[in-house]
Amino acid sequence: MIYRVLKPLIFRLDPERAHDLTSAALALVGRVPVAPTILRAMFSVRDPILSTSCAGLSFANPIGIAAGFDKRALLIGPLGALGFGHVEIGTVTPRPQSGNPLPRMFRLPEDAALINRLGFNSPGMAATARQLRQYRQRSTSGQNPPTIVGVNIGKNRDTSIEHATEDYLAAFVALAPMADYVAVNISSPNTPGLRKLHERAALEQLVTALAETNRAMPQPRPLFLKVSPDESDAQIETVVDVGLAAGFSGFIATNTTVAREGLQSARAVEVGGLSGQPLAAKARRTLQQIARQTTGRVPLIAVGGIADAEEAYARIRAGASLVQIYTALVYHGPGIAGLLAQGLAQLLHRDGFATISEAVGVDCQVGA
Ligand code: FNR
Repeated sequence: MIYRVLKPLIFRLDPERAHDLTSAALALVGRVPVAPTILRAMFSVRDPILSTSCAGLSFANPIGIAAGFDKRALLIGPLGALGFGHVEIGTVTPRPQSGNPLPRMFRLPEDAALINRLGFNSPGMAATARQLRQYRQRSTSGQNPPTIVGVNIGKNRDTSIEHATEDYLAAFVALAPMADYVAVNISSPNTPGLRKLHERAALEQLVTALAETNRAMPQPRPLFLKVSPDESDAQIETVVDVGLAAGFSGFIATNTTVAREGLQSARAVEVGGLSGQPLAAKARRTLQQIARQTTGRVPLIAVGGIADAEEAYARIRAGASLVQIYTALVYHGPGIAGLLAQGLAQLLHRDGFATISEAVGVDCQVGA
């Protein structure tokens, strides 16, 4: 209700400025001692049917915040208090970089969408590692299970694709010890050439190096590969083959799209990655393809255009163990995680499931 009043005011601001202000407010709230407990009481939905385990991790619910919202790992506590079961921070690059020139984030209200070309603005791995260490020291709030933290890693813009593996390895080594899982981002459209990492030879080099380094760590982490919705079916098949062969734990489908079909908004001409409602069908289709190929052997995370419980439920039935949102938070406000969780619990109860995992993949048609 409060967001309905605030939204017109927030939407008068430049989108990135609005994001910075709301992030600062959230970070501030997170520092007030009892505030997270109050937020949790207001927004979190506690229904045992929602708790789930995935890649060996325990999640209070399957709804997470997608990479890009908390690039600096400053908002994990408050986002957890808003009801998100996991927070994927980043993308984090090895060295700090400021990203593309402003403006670089645009609202398309007629399409319930955003376009961004931030280009991995990141404080770099050292500052992010410090931030995560502080979060780990502070987070003794007794939530059970605690908010799961994914760390999404990428390469610096000025690192060539030939040297990309070195960047990912550096970020992985610096950040994996503080992460519950690591997401390897090969799919942002805003770092020139990054999506070439969907090609077999480059991808094999990258994922083999990461998986080997991971296995040599005292506590290996689940590794997820985040894919683009814009690749051909054959290319996605290759990516999944290569990821599975290297021993990756699972896949995240999908990042933003460079497609622009069927948009109403004048902002559709902006260059960058499109997210929100117009991405939903593409992201769902990519998820379905990966689900058919992986046949339940590894967990999948669905992201792209999810804005209501029905769509979250459809992705779970299509094969996702977890779902993530970003754009829906901008359009629907901080109550969205709770609304999705509540709606999802109702749908699961309605259909007679005792747990989320029973519903995962029930609509996946192998061989279709
Ligand atoms: C993103 N996304 C993103 N993804 C990623 O892997 N690394 C990143 O740094 C970012 N940055 C980013 C910034 C902004 C402003 C947006 C809107 C999105 C993509 C995001 O994680 C997600 O995959 C897409 O936005 C699709 O989900 P939604 O927004 O349709 O729920």
